[in-house]
Amino acid sequence: MDHHVTTHLLHISVVLLLFFPTNTLSSIGINYGRIADNLPSPDKAIRLVKAIGAKKVKLYDANPDVLKAFANSGVSFTVGIGNEYLTTLQDPTAAETWVECNVKPYLPATKITSIAIGNEVLTSNDTSLSGCLLPAMQNIHAALIKFNLDKITVTTAHSLSVLETSYPPSAGTFRQDLTGKMSPVIDFLAKTCSPFLINAYPFFAYERNSNDVSLEFVLFQPNAGVLDSGNNLKYDNMLFAQMDAVYAALCKLGHKDVNIQISETGWPSKGDDNETGASLENAKKYNGCLLKIVKQKKGTPAMPDYEFDIFVFALFNENLKPGPTSERNYGLFKHDGTPAYDLGFVGSSGGGGGGGSGGGNGSRTPSPPLMFPPENPSGGYMPISSLAERFNSRISISVSIMLLSVQGWIISLL
Ligand SMILES: *[C@@H]1O[C@H](CO)[C@@H](O)[C@H](O)[C@H]1NC(C)=O
Ligand SMILES: *[C@@H]1O[C@H](CO)[C@@H](O)[C@H](O)[C@H]1NC(C)=O
Repeated sequence: MDHHVTTHLLHISVVLLLFFPTNTLSSIGINYGRIADNLPSPDKAIRLVKAIGAKKVKLYDANPDVLKAFANSGVSFTVGIGNEYLTTLQDPTAAETWVECNVKPYLPATKITSIAIGNEVLTSNDTSLSGCLLPAMQNIHAALIKFNLDKITVTTAHSLSVLETSYPPSAGTFRQDLTGKMSPVIDFLAKTCSPFLINAYPFFAYERNSNDVSLEFVLFQPNAGVLDSGNNLKYDNMLFAQMDAVYAALCKLGHKDVNIQISETGWPSKGDDNETGASLENAKKYNGCLLKIVKQKKGTPAMPDYEFDIFVFALFNENLKPGPTSERNYGLFKHDGTPAYDLGFVGSSGGGGGGGSGGGNGSRTPSPPLMFPPENPSGGYMPISSLAERFNSRISISVSIMLLSVQGWIISLL
């Protein structure tokens, strides 16, 4: 495309942006995890969310303080329901009560647009949960219909390890052993026009395979890229390769029609000595380029015109998260509201400290990494099952943290 045309198109899109500022276009969201005892209060968080240009916030619960504080803020919310509630939600009445207590009171002032039920349920160690997922989603959806709120979508976030094959992207398939559970969930998403959520962390792939995976490829830096011989498309970053692998897997189940959202992605600004790649510099590159790409409305090679939402993990560093040092250092902001690193936006909260008594319930279960070796296109993929084990202990820790909130939720049910 010649330069003039490009310039004109830029003008046109600027004009379009002025008139259609939200919603229909790709946008940046942010995960507002709250496992900390030193975070600014939610009303201070609003400024930070806006500073990064995020129009969407994802919570791991339905925290009343946050939902109240963001009333009339124009920010859309995905609220979460923890894995520990899935069994309760087998009861349609409990689902109705949940919607009545945790969603209804905040509408319409707070824009709740989606409910994410459970996190990485199908790959969770607790296999008893996977059978509970779809009924819980159906019951919440039915409750929303009952209250005439079914514009709110109902979905669930998956780990990338739901994929059996991720390389090359066009060969993406879901794990055979999950298909029985996955297919009906995806059918449900298609039927209700709800998005498919995936948590994708190129960081884990690099951390574990820094000899084979190029840093440029995971950090959106200029690189030669790699050709996917299956679709003849060229990939120059791992996140898009991961997204297209998910897309290929969805297509194979006959669901080109389901919208993909990245429900978590991010990069830690600090880690233990053996957490290769965790650094301020790399986090700044990853998240800085990510924000830029979303602003440019850049589609992936297999989904060039795609409008997707990407939720960065996370708004704040969370000082009470268990696990390696990286876990407490995913934030774009430090606990006092100052930027963790310069992302090119003006964004200090000016409100140091803050009385937020935190104790939040947000929880991230890191997905096992995908092996995607750009240097070595014939290298195939690493079976995910062999990687899952390492993360199990971390997953169980976050589940037990989430259990802490069960009590509060039951109280709100009564
Ligand atoms: C780093 O070392 C710790 C402690 O030895 C270990 O538990 C952890 O699994 C290691 N992490 C990585 C990424 O190798
Ligand atoms: C996974 O399941 C196995 C068997 O149930 C259990 O021994 C292990 O502790 C579980 N891991 C975690 C960790 O959740």
